[in-house]
Amino acid sequence: MAGVTTALLAPDGLSRLRTALTRASYSRDGIAALLGPGAFAALGRGDLATVRIAAAGDSPLEVLTRLFTAGGRATEKEVAAALDPLPLGDALAAGLVERHGDAVRAGLDLRPYGDDTGGSWWVLSDLGADVRPGPLRADHVLGIGGASVMLAQSTVRPKVDAALDLGTGCGIQALHLSQHAGSVTATDLNARALRLAATTAALNGLDWELLEGDLAAPVAGRRFGLVVSNPPFVVGPGRATHSYRDSGRPGDAISAELVASAPALLAEGGWLQFLANWVHAEDEPWDERLAGWLAGTGCDGWVIQRETLGPDEYVSMWLRDSGELSGNGSAGDAGQARMAEWLDWFAAERIEAVGFGLVTVRATGSASPVVRIEEARQHLDQPIGGHIADWFARQDWLRGADLLAARLVTAPELRLSQSAERGAEGWEVDTQVLALDGGMRWAQEADPITVALVGGCDGRVPLADQLALLAAAHEVHPAALATAALPIVGHLVERGMLLPAGAA
Ligand SMILES: C[S@@+](CC[C@H](N)C(=O)[O-])C[C@H]1O[C@@H](n2cnc3c(N)ncnc32)[C@H](O)[C@@H]1O
Repeated sequence: MAGVTTALLAPDGLSRLRTALTRASYSRDGIAALLGPGAFAALGRGDLATVRIAAAGDSPLEVLTRLFTAGGRATEKEVAAALDPLPLGDALAAGLVERHGDAVRAGLDLRPYGDDTGGSWWVLSDLGADVRPGPLRADHVLGIGGASVMLAQSTVRPKVDAALDLGTGCGIQALHLSQHAGSVTATDLNARALRLAATTAALNGLDWELLEGDLAAPVAGRRFGLVVSNPPFVVGPGRATHSYRDSGRPGDAISAELVASAPALLAEGGWLQFLANWVHAEDEPWDERLAGWLAGTGCDGWVIQRETLGPDEYVSMWLRDSGELSGNGSAGDAGQARMAEWLDWFAAERIEAVGFGLVTVRATGSASPVVRIEEARQHLDQPIGGHIADWFARQDWLRGADLLAARLVTAPELRLSQSAERGAEGWEVDTQVLALDGGMRWAQEADPITVALVGGCDGRVPLADQLALLAAAHEVHPAALATAALPIVGHLVERGMLLPAGAA
């Protein structure tokens, strides 16, 4: 393990940089006000030319925005004024900016980042391929991307004593953890990533423990209330050329390893959440494969598959991401060879597709852990972290509940929609769908008795009494109805469509 990681600038330099950024209003709101709605939306779309035009002036905010978010250039005098009181020489020496002909441009990506919970930070990373086209360096430090944000929005946010970010990169997950963890530890295999994370932390006045090493190895023997990771989960033959993408493990072994690490890594009641890819092999159902990872951990687990990609699309997407294939898919000899090698390996391993999604593991200490592996391709109302925490809370409730004695209520966002065909007697309903109009947005078909049962869930009578009334109305045997209804009711509670009265 390497020694202490230092930031790119000394404490005095960081304080000067912070002064410059603050003075210029280099924040999300400041940039939005500068650019106006059109160019600000262009920034979100990655249309950097529009941003450069909108920030073409010489005010410090325009110069910082042009340089650090849009890949533009400025004169030495403009950059010196924008960074003041940080001397330009210090910024050049730290690699924050670099000379380019007779102009100055960004050497790193430095941008404001915030969320709806009031977090407002600056994040330092390498410049993306949109700004510096061409193959990425092997130790490229990824900036904030769609996956980073998805993980941040899916993270449960309990107050914890200690939190861990495995593979911290630019430090985005650690920033969020700082809001609700007593201490934050962040690891990375890439020493450059740790230097940038150290700079991100110090620039935002935060103090993280930064450790270099492979996954959880640097924290062996320690336990955390929350562990998050957006790891290099990409499925391939196990050859690592880019640290942000390749774990050096074959297939989906890194994700299996992360699940296996949970029992030793989590404090009682602790959470592990990470993004992952997994193999869909010809001869093994993917959900059974993932259930196998969780079996024997003693933890509750919920895996949500968001999408799948076939081998061709998957390999070309990741080779384009690293610049090894050009945007239109054309490749030099090296890119072509890499693609062929990768696809041959997929064929040899009989991999038909790769799944992508979120894995959440909780050390409940229960003797009967719940493991659910399912697909959710519907639109989700982000952030869903709170909904994920609620799902686990409902599992705790279900484990101890006598459902028949429970009083249940429908979730406020639950809707019933029906479709009907005109028949001989008028409208004949053929499909009834219960759907949540928010959060996870689950939707499922329901039979008429379930619809009637759910409609009667107003929290006033125990489920057993509701079932007795329904049995009489539909002339079915009460015990048979209860046997059929209990798993359905359990499932509706799990999905948050029905809630224990008092919890709504
Ligand atoms: C996809 S990036 C994610 C960065 C950031 N946490 C985020 O959410 O955007 C993966 C990070 O894991 C790091 N990494 C790669 N292999 C690792 C390993 N074996 N152990 C720890 N970190 C690793 C990479 O250097 C990179 O910073």
